[in-house]
Amino acid sequence: MAVLGPGGVGGLVGALLARAGHRVVCLAGAETAGTLRKDGLHVTSGRFGAFRVPVEADTELREPAGLLFVTVKETALADALERVPAAALGGGLVLPLLNGADHLGPLRERYPAEQVAAATIRVESTRVAPGRIEHTSPFAGIELAGRTVPRERLDHTAALLREAGFGATVRDDETALLWDKLVFLAPMALLTTRYGATVGAVREQRRPELLALLDEIAAVARAAGAAAEPGEVLGFLEGAPGSMKSSMQRDAEAGRPLELDAIGGSVLRAAERHGLPAPLTAEIVAELRARTARS
Ligand SMILES: NC(=O)c1ccc[n+]([C@@H]2O[C@H](COP(=O)([O-])OP(=O)(O)OC[C@H]3O[C@@H](n4cnc5c(N)ncnc54)[C@H](OP(=O)(O)O)[C@@H]3O)[C@@H](O)[C@H]2O)c1
Repeated sequence: MAVLGPGGVGGLVGALLARAGHRVVCLAGAETAGTLRKDGLHVTSGRFGAFRVPVEADTELREPAGLLFVTVKETALADALERVPAAALGGGLVLPLLNGADHLGPLRERYPAEQVAAATIRVESTRVAPGRIEHTSPFAGIELAGRTVPRERLDHTAALLREAGFGATVRDDETALLWDKLVFLAPMALLTTRYGATVGAVREQRRPELLALLDEIAAVARAAGAAAEPGEVLGFLEGAPGSMKSSMQRDAEAGRPLELDAIGGSVLRAAERHGLPAPLTAEIVAELRARTARS
């Protein structure tokens, strides 16, 4: 199997699958690929322990992979896909673990639609240096779906992920799968980044704005096909540790590109498609876009 983008998510996936005995090829830039070939993947994790595992690495997929995990950020997706020519993929299943709701379309244009599943991952995992992964959440759960993919293929993939240590479930509805994640992630990412504040600070100091944004995004998610309940989403956010930061916020702090289009842009495009107003989301996205254009 292959992992395109062996970072926080991809490095953990690749390492656990390699540890479970699978042949794993990590696809990355020349420098990272060289480091991985030499040193393998190093993981520190409260749940999975500290371990090092050898992996193969290359800058391009050169032979069919039964399973291709796409684990780059959305901002790097178009460039990264150049490393996986459709002809090289063969009959492999593509499993994108990116956040956002709009990446399946481009993937299904590039690869056969019946080979591109939908998936989300619930984890906190960071690439602290090339090949060095710190997994800090007590959980690591993957959900899969795919209206274009045969169910038995999804079931087989979920079983393989469980054997490697992940929680893994197959769901029936890919739209609900993606939006269940986005409806929780988008308000948290947008507000923590807007105010440079932790989840706890947003909950306490920006509560009216948080509630308004939740309502707005949950309405869009429902129109898109998810059973999004603002009260339920708020319950999740109330349960998150107060000190938690979103990865968009950490990207902003580090001066890295933001997944603003994948997260805020997906909400705005769906709002437009369904004729719903999303003025607060639009205001925050525009503000963050202007900020990143200036920096
Ligand atoms: N991290 C989490 O806890 C988490 C949780 C849930 C969802 N997600 C989502 O998962 C996705 C990946 O996030 P992440 O945190 O794992 O990102 P990340 O740590 O930044 O890892 C991205 C990886 O992609 C590689 N990359 C960048 N451009 C590339 C290219 N053109 N070709 C090949 N590889 C390339 C990077 O290589 P280098 O190592 O050389 O920089 C890096 O290894 C995002 O959509 C994110 O929102 C993340």
